[in-house]
Amino acid sequence: MSKHTVRFGVVGTGAVARRFAQGVAHVAGAEIAAVWGRNVKTTRELAAFCEAEAALSAEDLFARDFDAVYIATLPDSHFEYARSALRAGKHVLCEKPVMRNVRELDEVLSLARRNGLLFMEAMKPPFFPVYTKLQKQLAEDPIGRVRFVRAGYAFPVPPDHPSWRLDTAGGGIMGIGVYHAFLAVAWLGPASTVTTTGRLSAGGVDSFAAMQTEHAEGTAQLFSGMDLPSPGDALLCGPEGYVTLHEKWWNPERATVHYADGRVVELHEPFVGGGFNYETEHFCALLREGKRESDVMTHQISWDVLHVLDRARSALGVRFEGK
Ligand SMILES: NC(=O)c1ccc[n+]([C@@H]2O[C@H](COP(=O)([O-])OP(=O)(O)OC[C@H]3O[C@@H](n4cnc5c(N)ncnc54)[C@H](OP(=O)(O)O)[C@@H]3O)[C@@H](O)[C@H]2O)c1
Repeated sequence: MSKHTVRFGVVGTGAVARRFAQGVAHVAGAEIAAVWGRNVKTTRELAAFCEAEAALSAEDLFARDFDAVYIATLPDSHFEYARSALRAGKHVLCEKPVMRNVRELDEVLSLARRNGLLFMEAMKPPFFPVYTKLQKQLAEDPIGRVRFVRAGYAFPVPPDHPSWRLDTAGGGIMGIGVYHAFLAVAWLGPASTVTTTGRLSAGGVDSFAAMQTEHAEGTAQLFSGMDLPSPGDALLCGPEGYVTLHEKWWNPERATVHYADGRVVELHEPFVGGGFNYETEHFCALLREGKRESDVMTHQISWDVLHVLDRARSALGVRFEGK
């Protein structure tokens, strides 16, 4: 693919689809060609918002002429739409948590590889300006290998939110825990042990979960919750210092590096465009370079993250339908 504009079709018309549209408007060489949601009214509204066509059905959307599908439905339908998009020859950028479990992800990844298409989980934090600035800071002035990660967030989720539903693959682990698992995997490698305690809602999803994970390079303590307030910062500790990623760390703007010799380095990089623009820019660059996997949000990282989520849910007895 040359320098042509990357054109997206969007599945889902909720809050995140709209934020994606806001992000795309900040990406040079990207546009939304068509959108589809099962609600005709919100489909038309989103289409008008991003000056795109409103498709009549998922099949109609996938049959249209554009490069990539962005999947912004709830996690129980990511598998279905990812497979349909890949079968229709479209590249896929899929919201987090990327699938319900690693079995679904394995199937989707092998389909993407077979069809020679790019597939990437839309995991936004590693693309934010302060996150990349932090990586540069630690490469130039290291704190040593990170051996401990602590990250968590709990907040009172309204009772009518889909996160309270088992049938849409809800729960705090899937909703917000996925970011914390990403941070642990990204800095410590794959998890070998996941020990989880917590409690379930009456509907059978995790309302609170505390996860202690052992990884190739160290240990993490992670939590997610839907019925308590908390700040939402994160900590990365190495032998020569530690980093605080300030709240809300998964939309990071500020980080503080504390060195063992007493130096403190403050990083502050406000994000623009709602923040989805950075991952979208990366995805478009991959397409233009003919890549079929991100070197930042790799398939292996998505798999290792889902593995943590699968193990944590299994320990609490949260069971979804499907594969
Ligand atoms: N990257 C981020 O910052 C971020 C933040 C929050 C959430 N997320 C992720 O983004 C995704 C969407 O979240 P959201 O907050 O936008 O949710 P939302 O506001 O509830 O919107 C969900 C959209 O998906 C549609 N939908 C749900 N199930 C569907 C199905 N089976 N088939 C077709 N359409 C379906 C809904 O249609 P109806 O309106 O007809 O129900 C709605 O248009 C989730 O995977 C979530 O985990 C990402």
